[in-house]
Amino acid sequence: MLRIYPVPEEEEAARQGEALDTPLGLAEAYAYPPREAGPYLRANMVGSLDGAARAEGRSAPLSSDADMRVFGVLRALADVILVGAETARHEGYRPAKARAAFAARRAADGQSPAPAIAVISRRLDLDFDAPLFAAPSVPTLLLTGAGAPRAALDRARAAGAEVVIAGEGDGVEPARVVRELAARGHARLLHEGGPRVLAQFAAAGVLDELCLTVSPLLTGGDAPRIMNGPGVTPPARYVPRSVLEEDGFLFTRYVRA
Ligand SMILES: NC(=O)c1ccc[n+]([C@@H]2O[C@H](COP(=O)([O-])OP(=O)(O)OC[C@H]3O[C@@H](n4cnc5c(N)ncnc54)[C@H](OP(=O)(O)O)[C@@H]3O)[C@@H](O)[C@H]2O)c1
Repeated sequence: MLRIYPVPEEEEAARQGEALDTPLGLAEAYAYPPREAGPYLRANMVGSLDGAARAEGRSAPLSSDADMRVFGVLRALADVILVGAETARHEGYRPAKARAAFAARRAADGQSPAPAIAVISRRLDLDFDAPLFAAPSVPTLLLTGAGAPRAALDRARAAGAEVVIAGEGDGVEPARVVRELAARGHARLLHEGGPRVLAQFAAAGVLDELCLTVSPLLTGGDAPRIMNGPGVTPPARYVPRSVLEEDGFLFTRYVRA
């Protein structure tokens, strides 16, 4: 993998490239701010060259080996991974794996061996017998509103999920999600979409960082962009922190200005 921004000094380029090829070296390139600075919400998404957030109904056809390495490292750095219910259903979400390469680092940081998954849902039409809820090493969180269906809430709790009420209506309010997770000790937040939930977090002004993989594929069609919901008004400015490249894929990291 190459760093193409900030442009490294010539003699640094080879050393940095080698470091980026190791999980811990790549982790350095994506370090979260210090915990004392408070909760920090990063999103990681992939889009085609023409802006599609999915191809053939899924994000996998837009991805690459290097994209999966970045995806895995961002997970390994996070306390908790937020995901919309539709993405969890569609992509068959399972508990995140603990990785040996990050075990010591996570333990020293006071993190659980693997990040928890936090599913965002209103209807709670989820398979609570699936491994995501029934067999995680860290309890899966269910983020929903106060008006969520009672019977499904009971099923979720019985399956071992930690229910977090983060909204007054049937849905969650993004700023409250961040507060509720922070209150449970989760400061390093990673949002994996999908487009409908991510748009709400961006519109609410709580998105600190966007890691966007630009896939070198044209898909055409009518797929949504990586955010598909309320607008960010006025548009919010983000500044590039880094751009990495491998195999024609660009791994951009933008932070809120
Ligand atoms: N390109 C990428 O990086 C990327 C990343 C992720 C996903 N994707 C793709 O995106 C597609 C799925 O995304 P999507 O945008 O359709 O769905 P999504 O954002 O993953 O999930 C939408 C669901 O989230 C729940 N929800 C939405 N707003 C809520 C709120 N305020 N409070 C509580 N729950 C709320 C609802 O769940 P209930 O119906 O359960 O109430 C809703 O149906 C898939 O094709 C997936 O492959 C692409």
